[in-house]
Amino acid sequence: MRQFKCLMPKVISFGPGKARELARSVAGKKILVMGDPGVKSSGAVRAALDAIGADAAAVREFWDIVAEPTEQQITDIVAAVDMPGLDAIVAVGGGSAMDTAKFVSVMAQGGPSMEDLFAGRFSGKRKASLIMVPTTAGSGSEATPNSIALRPKLNLKVGVVCEEFMADQVILDPELLVGLPPNVTAATGLDALCHALECYVSNKANPVSDMFAMESMRLTFKSLRTAVADGADIEARGETQLAAFYGGVCIACSGTNAVHALSYPLGGRYRIPHGVSNAVLLAPVFAYNKDACVEKLAMVADLAARASGTSLGGMNDSDKADYLVDYLARLAQDLKIPASLEELGIGPEDLDLLVDAAFEVKRLLDNNPKPLSKDDIRVIYTGILTRRS
Ligand SMILES: NC(=O)c1ccc[n+]([C@@H]2O[C@H](COP(=O)([O-])OP(=O)(O)OC[C@H]3O[C@@H](n4cnc5c(N)ncnc54)[C@H](O)[C@@H]3O)[C@@H](O)[C@H]2O)c1
Ligand SMILES: [Fe+2]
Repeated sequence: MRQFKCLMPKVISFGPGKARELARSVAGKKILVMGDPGVKSSGAVRAALDAIGADAAAVREFWDIVAEPTEQQITDIVAAVDMPGLDAIVAVGGGSAMDTAKFVSVMAQGGPSMEDLFAGRFSGKRKASLIMVPTTAGSGSEATPNSIALRPKLNLKVGVVCEEFMADQVILDPELLVGLPPNVTAATGLDALCHALECYVSNKANPVSDMFAMESMRLTFKSLRTAVADGADIEARGETQLAAFYGGVCIACSGTNAVHALSYPLGGRYRIPHGVSNAVLLAPVFAYNKDACVEKLAMVADLAARASGTSLGGMNDSDKADYLVDYLARLAQDLKIPASLEELGIGPEDLDLLVDAAFEVKRLLDNNPKPLSKDDIRVIYTGILTRRS
C-alpha cells in the first residue's frame, strides 16, 4: 500500500472579492506585505491593501522582490525587511513573491541562513504567520511546503522543502488575476498543468494527489485557453486559479519529476521563466515517459478530449497516450510557447552543461516513472534544440 503524508494550509478562501477578507485576518497585528513591482503596478491589490491599512496595528510594504530570485537576493531581502515583533507576512504575487515570503518567514527574527535551509539544518518554528494571496495561477506555491531559489554556482534552481513554509491562510481571489498578461497567464497555467500531470504519474502518486491532479487537469483543459484569450473572464480565471492551487496540493503530497528536473537548468543558467521552461519540455518528456505510464496518460487523454468536445471511443490506451502527447504539444504551440531551445537562445554548445546539471536534480528524477540516464536526458534536450516543422 502506498504511504503518504499531506500538508494543507489551515484556511483557504476562494471567490471574487475574497481579498477583502485580509482586513479581518490582520486586525490588530504588525504585518509585512510583500510582492514584486509587477504586482504592485498592476494595481490588483489596492483594495485589499486599503482594507489592511485600516485594521492592522502596523503595516510595512515591500515591493522589491525580484522574479525567480537567487539565494543572495533572498538573503538581502531578509536583511532589508527584518522587523522585530512581526506577527504576519502577507505575500501578494506569483510564485516568486510567495517563495521569497516563505524564506523570509523562517529566516527573519534570528532564523536560519539559506545554507542551513539548503542543508536541511532547520528544525525550529517560524515566528510570524504566513498569508498567501496568489496573483498568478501557476506555481501553486500557496499550497506547498516548498520554496525555490536560484543557485548560480550550481547553474540550477534548488527547492527547499520545509514544513514551516506551509501557509496559515490562502486567499484565492480571481479578480486579482484580471490584469495578468496573456503570455504570463499561458506560461503559469502550463506550469500548473505540469505539476498535476507529473504528480499524477509520479512514483510518489497516491489517492489524494491523484484526486487533486485529475481535477486540476480537467480545469486547466477547460479554462486555460479562455483565460489567456480573455483575462477578464472571472469564471475562467477562477478555474485556472483552482487548477493551480490543486497542483500545489499535488506537489505537497506527491512530487514533480522529469519535466521540472530538466527545466531547472534552463531557469538556473539561462534565466528562462519557470513556466516557459516547463512548457517547452512538457510534451517531449511525456513522449519519453509514455510506456511507463500509458494507462494513466490514457485517462488524462480522455479528460483533454472531453474538454475539446472530442471522443476517443475506439482508441486503445497506447493511442490515447499518443493523443495526449500531441494535445500537449498543440496546447503549448497555441499558447505561443517557444517550440525549441534555439528560440530561447540555447544552442548545441550548451548541451553538456544542461545534461550535467539536470542529472543532479535527483530529488525530482527519483520521482519519475521511468528512469533517466544522462544519455536519455541528452536525447530529450537534443530533440527540442531546433524547431521541428
Ligand atoms: N514553491 C513551489 O512549490 C513552487 C512551485 C512551482 C514554481 N515555483 C517558483 O515560482 C516562481 C514562478 O512563479 P510564477 O510563475 O507565479 O511567476 P512570478 O511570480 O515570477 O511572476 C511572473 C510575472 O508576473 C507578474 N505578475 C504577477 N501577478 C500579476 C498580476 N496579477 N498582474 C500583472 N502582473 C503580474 C510579476 O510581476 C512577474 O513579472 C519560480 O521561481 C518557480 O521556481 C515554486
Ligand atoms: Fe513548477
